[in-house]
This record gives sequence, structure tokens and C-alpha cells, in this order.
Amino acid sequence: MSRKPFLAGNWKMFKTSAQARQFFSELIKLSPLKDDREVALAVPFPSLEASVAAVADTPIIIAAQNVYFENEGAFTGEVSAPMAAATGARAVILGHSERRQFFGDTGAWVNKKLGAALAAGLIPILCLGESLAEREGGRAFDVLAAQLKEALNGFSAADLASLVIAYEPVWAIGSGKTATPETAQEAHVFIRRHLAEQLGDKTAEAARILYGGSVKPDNIAKLMSQPDIDGALAGGASLDAAAFARIINFDA
Ligand code: 13P
Repeated sequence: MSRKPFLAGNWKMFKTSAQARQFFSELIKLSPLKDDREVALAVPFPSLEASVAAVADTPIIIAAQNVYFENEGAFTGEVSAPMAAATGARAVILGHSERRQFFGDTGAWVNKKLGAALAAGLIPILCLGESLAEREGGRAFDVLAAQLKEALNGFSAADLASLVIAYEPVWAIGSGKTATPETAQEAHVFIRRHLAEQLGDKTAEAARILYGGSVKPDNIAKLMSQPDIDGALAGGASLDAAAFARIINFDA
């Protein structure tokens, strides 16, 4: 089955809305988007509306980087899925390792956040990945299986028709240490097999599995040449319009 490549950037806590507008005006000038691929950028909450407006005449998808699982209430500092969707954002990153590591997001929370995102009509970009110690201890696949099982618990294949997964080994994030295309492919196959067991072959075949962790303009083509790598989630390289344009316009 052919899956449409999904190339995404995650700005993390970078760029004001003025800087976001500047980025998109550069990106749009640089890159007539190829229509055989989807492009998304996950921006900080205060830049969502400006970013949505900046890409209004393009197919670029704007994503949030997190949401809380309640729709409203006394949760100071949080943003709900309906609030993110109301800005025009169409997707949301869930379970990023930085959220798990620094903000206490547990697997159970990621599961609830996934429910909130789906109910608000947002495309979920669910992040999974093992730490260096887990990989070196031979537990990478156990960790991926546990994260998947917990995140997807209680959802049907129909619920998860829009599911996008990002495999982001923690040791490759911001380290300049990309997983080799073969290592990433092996993890993606494992994830797809697990999805098939949990949700059936059809959903597993349709789900886009992105690779994230030091994705750069000069390694994207090799990563994308692997049959189960359906896209990328770039951090640092997505902050620069020229670098991101090279990533999204990689030669297939
Ligand atoms: P880097 O591309 O900076 O390694 O970040 C990856 C990431 O965490 C994307 O979500």
C-alpha cells in the first residue's frame, strides 16, 4: 500500500508569532509544495493563529505541540483540544518525550489526550521512543510496545483512522545522532506489526509512521527510502525555512 509522505516540523519552544509569520513567508517563497506529500508544522500555542493565517492559501497543516485532556475547567496554564482546534490547527503532537520527561506526561495521560484530540477532530501525531539506556539494555521494543498499548488502549480502528505515529528515539533527539535508516526501519516495522495486532491490518497499513531525531536536509532522502518510514518529524532543522524547504522537497 502506498502511504502519502507526511513531513512535519516541531518548533518546540521557539519563535514568536512575528517570527512565525516571517518563517512562513520565506517557506512559501522557497517551496512550491509537491502535491504527493503532506507538510505540517507544530508551533507554540501563541503562534497558532498567526501561523494558520500565514498558510491559509497553501496545503500546509498547522499543529499544536500538546493539549490537556479536559475541554475546559480550572486548569491554570493549560490549553484544551477544542481551543487548539478553534485556532484552525488541524493536528497535535502527543506524548513527545520532552513532555514525558519534563512535564510528567504519563502513558495514561497520553491516552486521555489522544481521546480529547480525536474528539476535537485533530490529527494525532503520537510520539514513541526509547531512551539510550533502554536501547542499550535490549529493551527498546518492549518500551515501544508498552507505550503503544497504553496510548491506544480503548480506541477502535475506526477511531484511529487518522493516526500518525512518530518514532523518536530519545537518544537521537537534538543529539546530531540520527538512527541509521536500517535501525529506524526495524523499529517502524515493529510498530506497524504491533498496530496490526491491536487494530488490524488495514489500520496498520494506512498509518503513517514518521521518524524523528536529528532529521536534516542531508539525511532525509535515505531515511525516506526505507519502506516503512513514511515521513519525518524534524526539530532543529524545522526552525530554518531554507533547511525545512529542503527536507519537504527531498527527492523521492
Ligand atoms: P531534533 O530534530 O532537533 O533532533 O528534534 C527531534 C524532535 O524531537 C522532533 O519532535
